[in-house]
Amino acid sequence: MHNNKVFLVTGAANGIGLAIAKQAISGGATVIASDINGDALEQSQKLLGEKYIPKISDASDPKAIEELVRFIETDFGRLDVLVNNAGAATLNNPETITEDVYDFQMNLLLKGPVFFVKYAAPLLRAANNGVVVNISSASAILQLPGYCPYGMAKEALVKFTEDCVITVPGIRHNVILPGVIDTLILNNTYGKDASDEFKKVVETSCPVPRLGTPDDIADGVLFLSSDQASYITGTQLLIDGGMSKMHVLSMSQTNT
Ligand SMILES: NC(=O)c1ccc[n+]([C@@H]2O[C@H](COP(=O)([O-])OP(=O)(O)OC[C@H]3O[C@@H](n4cnc5c(N)ncnc54)[C@H](O)[C@@H]3O)[C@@H](O)[C@H]2O)c1
Repeated sequence: MHNNKVFLVTGAANGIGLAIAKQAISGGATVIASDINGDALEQSQKLLGEKYIPKISDASDPKAIEELVRFIETDFGRLDVLVNNAGAATLNNPETITEDVYDFQMNLLLKGPVFFVKYAAPLLRAANNGVVVNISSASAILQLPGYCPYGMAKEALVKFTEDCVITVPGIRHNVILPGVIDTLILNNTYGKDASDEFKKVVETSCPVPRLGTPDDIADGVLFLSSDQASYITGTQLLIDGGMSKMHVLSMSQTNT
């Protein structure tokens, strides 16, 4: 399905990014896997083999982004699919947030994807059927206490995706909004105990009564970047097991 394509997946050492890399490689692609976690990249390469090309690179730094895209241009000569996936979440509200935390979140979740599109657009356009898939979050469409500015950045990423359909032509642009997916980000954000409690609520209350898996999101990415989706651009794909239709998230208030 993705034979000979070149993917760039940010935050591809763990979780959702790693599942996307794995599925793309199974479909015949080569994946440039960027991340700041060198050890995890190394471990993942042992698992996925030579079509997983690990690159330590900061997805929130425009200079590093430009260098990464130049590397792909020089060494691979093409780029078919860009997946803006790298992310981290901190819990804040407007009265307690610091400028450093605000900048950290906005640079990683919003500035990075904008600059990836800026630098990668010529290569993606040259690929004929080049695709960008942005990984947003269901928090973009929910009112979740403590998600300042995470939720704002994720909502702006949806808007950015839609704008790009017109402003960055010749490329398809789509965005995925994951619900609660079982990855490291949950423990890292909430701490283990609150995260376990949160998972239990999701598993028992969601219309699809289980946590999402990284493969649930990778399935969406692989579809949206395939030829089967060649008429789909500017779309939001919510993959959340129905969670956003439920009121199960009030526990996140306890950590703000
Ligand atoms: N897991 C969920 O419940 C969930 C829900 C909604 C959205 N998301 C989004 O999905 C994406 C992937 O998250 P995940 O759940 O796989 O989390 P994860 O923590 O398992 O993986 C995130 C990866 O991003 C990398 N990363 C962090 N900062 C980086 C930087 N500056 N440059 C490059 N890489 C960086 C981390 O090292 C890690 O490998 C994120 O954008 C996240 O906001 C996750």
